[in-house]
Amino acid sequence: MPLSENLIMRAKALHKHIVLAEGAEERTQSAARMIAGEGMAKVTLVGKESAIRAAIPELDKLGITAVEPEKSPKYRQYASEFYEMRKEKGMTPEEALELMKDEVYFATMMVKAGDADGMVAGAIHTTGETLRPALQVIKTAPGISIVSSIFLMELPKPEYGYNGVFIFADCALIVNPSAKELASIAIAAARSGRALTGMEPRVAMLSFSTKGSAKHEMVDKVVEATRIAKEMDPTLIIDGELQADAALVASVGLLKSPGSPVAGKANVLIFPDLNSGNIAYKLVQRLAGAVAMGPITQGLAKPVNDLSRGCVPRDIVTVAAITALQANN
Ligand code: ACO
Repeated sequence: MPLSENLIMRAKALHKHIVLAEGAEERTQSAARMIAGEGMAKVTLVGKESAIRAAIPELDKLGITAVEPEKSPKYRQYASEFYEMRKEKGMTPEEALELMKDEVYFATMMVKAGDADGMVAGAIHTTGETLRPALQVIKTAPGISIVSSIFLMELPKPEYGYNGVFIFADCALIVNPSAKELASIAIAAARSGRALTGMEPRVAMLSFSTKGSAKHEMVDKVVEATRIAKEMDPTLIIDGELQADAALVASVGLLKSPGSPVAGKANVLIFPDLNSGNIAYKLVQRLAGAVAMGPITQGLAKPVNDLSRGCVPRDIVTVAAITALQANN
């Protein structure tokens, strides 16, 4: 069974409530129909109610709720709670009322307030526009210092990774992580991998060097991040610095890093910065025919996920399923 179907099947059992912030957007409306029609989750669409009703005449029959921020009985409550959270940052009550007209801010406040279990947007908003409200109000989960992201990569090559499935991080959010931030990304990615796929994570800290084959401050960062990650989670199966071939191919791993618990069998790939991570996932998607699911946010206290602006309705359904699973953890 493809991973996306497995995720949707598991999400169905949870009966979570997912808010789709871009309710006036066509692909989002199609996705809402699928999610509600397949009984995967309860759905709320945020946007102009008359437009949503016109686009989905069977809205009530499907049990989908349409919410128009300004007309919602929660509008003033959310604005006032948002103001309280942000007043030290210079927010005024008037600005909070204005911001709460924005669908993404309103939907994020629904999750913050416990009126929905998770939020998905990004079919028309940028990554920043989608995630900034969550970073501001939902904040990190207890004990987590940084919000980052993963891609679930499913390759038509079961001999690699976890039956062809990999976690790639961070390919979308943290531009140039410090060694400590890179360590946090690695630990969070391993946990996400286990929770979403059932894999036993084997984390490769990638570089252009394997075990001292090259010397550079960019390599030093990866070595230091590996050390910190081991210190933060001694149970983690992690190794670095490793080149991609040493991480993935058994014969190369044996040659370049003999005795490594990860080399040749990695299933979680951690990239040293956003240049390498973002380029890598797009190359693997386009040239190797991988299905790329994400970016999936990790580290928030409650789940909020961003979509690619090139997404199709089925992608939105998959991200909603992942969001439901994260809400359950
Ligand atoms: N973890 C935790 N908190 C964070 C993080 C983080 N990673 N980033 C920002 N914050 C917090 C800040 O501390 C701040 O909190 P405060 O306002 O309470 O003090 C708040 O979030 C807003 O911070 P800003 O610095 O204003 O955040 P900004 O909006 O500039 O940055 C963003 C967030 C947009 C996600 C940024 O990290 C970014 O631009 N990343 C790159 C996104 C990108 O272009 N990706 C490539 C394309 S994606 C793709 O190809 C699929």
